[in-house]
Amino acid sequence: MCGIMGYTGKSQASAVILQGLAKQEYRGYDSAGIALRCDGRIVNAKIVGRVAELARRVRDLPPECECAVSGIGHTRWATHGGVTETNAHPHESSDGMVVLVHNGIIENSRDIRSRLESEGVRFITETDTEASCQLLAKLYRERGGDAHSAMSRLTASLTGAFALVIMFLDRPDEIWCARRGSPLVAANDGGASYCASDPTALLDYTHDLFFLEEGEMALLKPLACKFFNFDGSPREKESVSLNWSNVMTDKGRHEHFMRKEIEEQPDVLRLTIDTHTVVTTVAMGRDFNLPRGIMKKIRRVQFVACGTSHYATLVARDMLESLDRELDTRVEVASEYRYRDVAGGDDTLAIFVSQSGETADTLAAARRARAAGTCCVAITNVRGSTIDREVPHTLLSLSGPEIGVAATKTFTGQISLLALLVMWLLKDRGTLSANDEARLIGGLRSLPTLLQEILSREDEIKALAEKYSSSRGFFFIGRRECVPLTMEGALKMKEIAYLPSEAYAAGEMKHGPIAMLDDKLTVVALVPDTDLREKTLSNVEECRARSAPILLFATEGDLDALDFANDVFFMPRTERELIPFIGVLPLQLFAYHTARCLGRDIDMPRNLAKSVTVE
Ligand code: G6P
Repeated sequence: MCGIMGYTGKSQASAVILQGLAKQEYRGYDSAGIALRCDGRIVNAKIVGRVAELARRVRDLPPECECAVSGIGHTRWATHGGVTETNAHPHESSDGMVVLVHNGIIENSRDIRSRLESEGVRFITETDTEASCQLLAKLYRERGGDAHSAMSRLTASLTGAFALVIMFLDRPDEIWCARRGSPLVAANDGGASYCASDPTALLDYTHDLFFLEEGEMALLKPLACKFFNFDGSPREKESVSLNWSNVMTDKGRHEHFMRKEIEEQPDVLRLTIDTHTVVTTVAMGRDFNLPRGIMKKIRRVQFVACGTSHYATLVARDMLESLDRELDTRVEVASEYRYRDVAGGDDTLAIFVSQSGETADTLAAARRARAAGTCCVAITNVRGSTIDREVPHTLLSLSGPEIGVAATKTFTGQISLLALLVMWLLKDRGTLSANDEARLIGGLRSLPTLLQEILSREDEIKALAEKYSSSRGFFFIGRRECVPLTMEGALKMKEIAYLPSEAYAAGEMKHGPIAMLDDKLTVVALVPDTDLREKTLSNVEECRARSAPILLFATEGDLDALDFANDVFFMPRTERELIPFIGVLPLQLFAYHTARCLGRDIDMPRNLAKSVTVE
């Protein structure tokens, strides 16, 4: 959601900024803009559309802009004000002294705006951001050009969430940043400084990154980055080294990042299992500092997340319940958890899962739980992200950077880590038998090969997607361990193919949804060979009797399944608890190929953002 890129150094600023914005396109946006410092003035270019269009507009700027060595850029995901060039960032103050980009929502922008308007300031956009820009210009003037003091006063005056990146007309080579609530990362490579919303934008230059903390400001100059508290006092800061390679953020031979990331899942599994197990025992690694014996006093476990991460936690809950039914285990969406009166305290363990580590609702939920004295654990894919820094016990999922907006390999990274964490917790509680531990770890170890086998049969799924892409929509149904899969399968279909897709526990179909069925609504049924196979097949029969085309995902060897469906895709057999690890892959590919048939923008689906940094 909104991408920021700032640069000050010796290279062509426009090239660095456009490249940084392109790397962050996946965050989701609808318009873009850049401001460059050229020959003592600041030149702006803005467009509605893609970064490639902005690059064309930059080529039409006056020739001296090619020599600009500092500037700021932005991709905007509209919140306040329509998608127009005027509303696109950067915004410039009426006196031309301040140019600024922003990610977040300034909640008191209306008050600031009416106050400044009554003083004669003329606003030209409908955005909340312009209020911060005009206010900063006024504060800067009032303080005789003292940027430190003006920034401090600005940050004290704003409510809401912001990552602000600023240039002052009369301060060449300087870029100012401030962060509260929205992510911002800075870096210096010896001759230039950078800042961005997302670390992937900086990996071409350096892997040593400074993640701005809540309430922190930064001054970037070509030779160094300096950090301050909002009150202006200096702050010592250590860089974090991110060991992601640039190749990982490259599409390589693939048409889409999503397809590349689907294919990387066997490697994610292998790495996670190798990192956190020794032969047939779970070993969470030295960095995981949850004290041993903690589970002796824990009575409740809560999993809290949003979107695909939420579905990953449903998989974990199923596993935990199947191994220990005494523990009170709940799953909550973060946007609700943060406002409900959920039980907490030192007998409660809350596990927050967020691939980005920046989802506003998940962060707020974690803060609330910590305030209640709940023991909090976070699982995130981004070292240095806000959740990593704020939650005392963090486990890093090992998925590598994910660029496709629709989460795929991060889901697999999360469920594999959650499975191992669940085993660790139950071992600590004394309720995991050595048998179950060895059985599940053995099962996990065999998964990469099974996933590889499914990948080698991608053509089958592609043909199914082509056949069913003319459906009016989909129902995904299944029971127990397959319910999270129905949700994730339906979500992928909605996100990238934009086809109406519902997920239902198969037993619920009769209670209403079945009324919608006809020969244009395809039912995707997940019917692995478990004790619930027959029951689920009865539900499938009921759908078939209402003329719905049936696409069945069954276990290999279950040839009788062919009698129940128009088409069957056979999945390899695995432990019951591990079925979601296998089942998610064909569903991802099914959504991917359906979206491809329909000509959708797969890596950057309309209206979506990869990292939802506002509430
Ligand atoms: C957005 C993304 C989803 C993601 C969800 C939660 O909606 O588009 O892919 O599952 O946020 O994100 P998180 O980073 O907290 O896992």
